[in-house]
Parts: sequence; structure tokens; C-alpha cells
Amino acid sequence: MAQATVRAPRKAVIPAAGLGTRFLPATKAVPKELLPVVDTPAMQYIVEEAVSAGLDEILVITGRGKDAIADHFDRSPELEAALEQKGDLGRLAAVRRSGELASMHFVRQGNPLGLGHAVLCAAPYVGDETFAVMLGDDLIDSRDPLLATMLKVQSDQGGSVVALLEVPPDQIALYGAVASTPVSEELVRITDLVEKPDPAEAPSNLAIIGRYLLAPSIFDALRETPPGRGGEIQLTDALRALARSGEPVHGVVFRGRRYDTGDRLDYLRAVVRLACERADLGADFRAWLTEFVAGRS
Ligand code: G1P
Repeated sequence: MAQATVRAPRKAVIPAAGLGTRFLPATKAVPKELLPVVDTPAMQYIVEEAVSAGLDEILVITGRGKDAIADHFDRSPELEAALEQKGDLGRLAAVRRSGELASMHFVRQGNPLGLGHAVLCAAPYVGDETFAVMLGDDLIDSRDPLLATMLKVQSDQGGSVVALLEVPPDQIALYGAVASTPVSEELVRITDLVEKPDPAEAPSNLAIIGRYLLAPSIFDALRETPPGRGGEIQLTDALRALARSGEPVHGVVFRGRRYDTGDRLDYLRAVVRLACERADLGADFRAWLTEFVAGRS
């Protein structure tokens, strides 16, 4: 009998309907996903990461006031013509690039009922395929390709795969936490998940970070998931249902470079780190920073 060929995942879902209140007033009129990290909107890093892992069909879950995201990933004929006329080919290439990176699609969440609900909005787009969910607050350094590792695990083990990070126990309440059994040094099989547990009740200090590869069975699980932590439909709770039903759910323990752009202090750290590493700015910026920290600038 002919075996059905399993297509490598091509679709990524990026939830971007949140209000971005931690960055007000900057996010009053500008979506937080477009705040620049050096000179590139935070979300472009996520899209570039997806594309480098072969995920070039992208659905962004947006909401009211987020139309500028679609503009950023679209062509901009007037701007391109103006740059072309000036002969500014470097910037022209940069402007074209974001419009040509991936096949971008957008759907509005309508009611912000939680991350699980946002993911459920992707069901008609995703269909019956394994797909990625990528949360915009986590920037993963392109030198530490996490998604590629997760795709390999998914292809070997089937089911769903989440990215995990060991965090100090007192920080686990900020994340989804997992109970697991080790498979290898960087791989665990997940047996249970809890969204934002009190540290005293956390099953471990392994926290879910914003990269998931999800089997399409997650949609049925989400449809049956009642509101959980914070009164929201939690993706963590739907994954728990899958894990408890015996479907494989694995975790890749990430030990590479990750930048959190979700709160102001971490955002500033991300900007400084990435600016220091840039080929075009890094040397000058590092020199200035050294003087600044020494109190000489
Ligand atoms: C979400 C998830 C949580 C996960 C976190 C990763 O929470 O619900 O399980 O650990 O993302 O960043 P949020 O940060 O949106 O509150």
C-alpha cells in the first residue's frame, strides 16, 4: 500500500492581537510588534526566523489598530520609486525585503479571549497540517536555530513539540510550566502542563517559551478547553489535554541565545545586545558604550 507522504510543516501562526500595554504610550498608535529592535521591527525577526526554518506561509492573528503590520510586510511602490530615484539601493533592498520575505496572511481575532483562542482563529488557514506558533516577544538568535531542532524532533516523534527554557524557580509563575521525563540531554517527553503556576506548586522550573509545533489535533482540544488562568482560553491547557490523552508532546530544552522584547528592561537589553553585534554599527556602538558605562561619555 502506498504510504501517505508527510509534508514538512510550511505554516507559521504569529499571534499579534495583544494591546501592548507595557509599552504605552509608544503603542497607543503603533503596534508593539513594529517597535524597532535597532532598525528592524520586532516582528520581522520572527518572520525571518520562520522563513529560515522553511516556514514561509505565515498567518498573523491581528486585531483592531494593527493594520500597519500588514503594510510593513507588503510592497510599497511609492517608497520604492522614491528610493530608486535617489539611487539609495541599500535602503531600497531593505524596503523590498520585508515585502517579499514570505507569503503573509492576516486574520482578526475580534475578541481577545486568550492565546488559545488566537490559535483557534488559525484553524481554517492551517487545515489538517502540523504548524508552528511563534510568539513575538521571544527573539531567538539566528545562530542558535531552535525551530530547526524542533522540526527534526517533530519529524522523528510525531505529535507536538514545544520549546522550553530552564528558569529560576521564582520566575516560573510568568510562564507555562511542564512535568516531563527525560529522553536525551535536550529532549523531554511532556506528561503535564500548568499555565503560570504558583512557584510552590510548579511541576518543574522548565518554562514554555514562545515556539510551538502543533499537531492539528490541537484545534479540537482548544474547542473543548474552558477558560483557564486569567479567564482566558489557554494554549497550555489544550496541550495538557493532548499530553494526557497519550498524544506525544515533547519539549526541546533551549540553551541558546534568546532575547525577550516583552518588557521594557528586557527590550532595552535586546536592542543593546543586537546593536553591539551588528556589522555596520557594532564597533562604534561598543566603543561608545564602554565609555558610557565607565562614566566618561
Ligand atoms: C504565553 C503562554 C505561556 C508561555 C509564554 C511564553 O504567556 O501562555 O504558557 O510560557 O507565553 O512567552 P504570555 O507571556 O502571553 O502571558
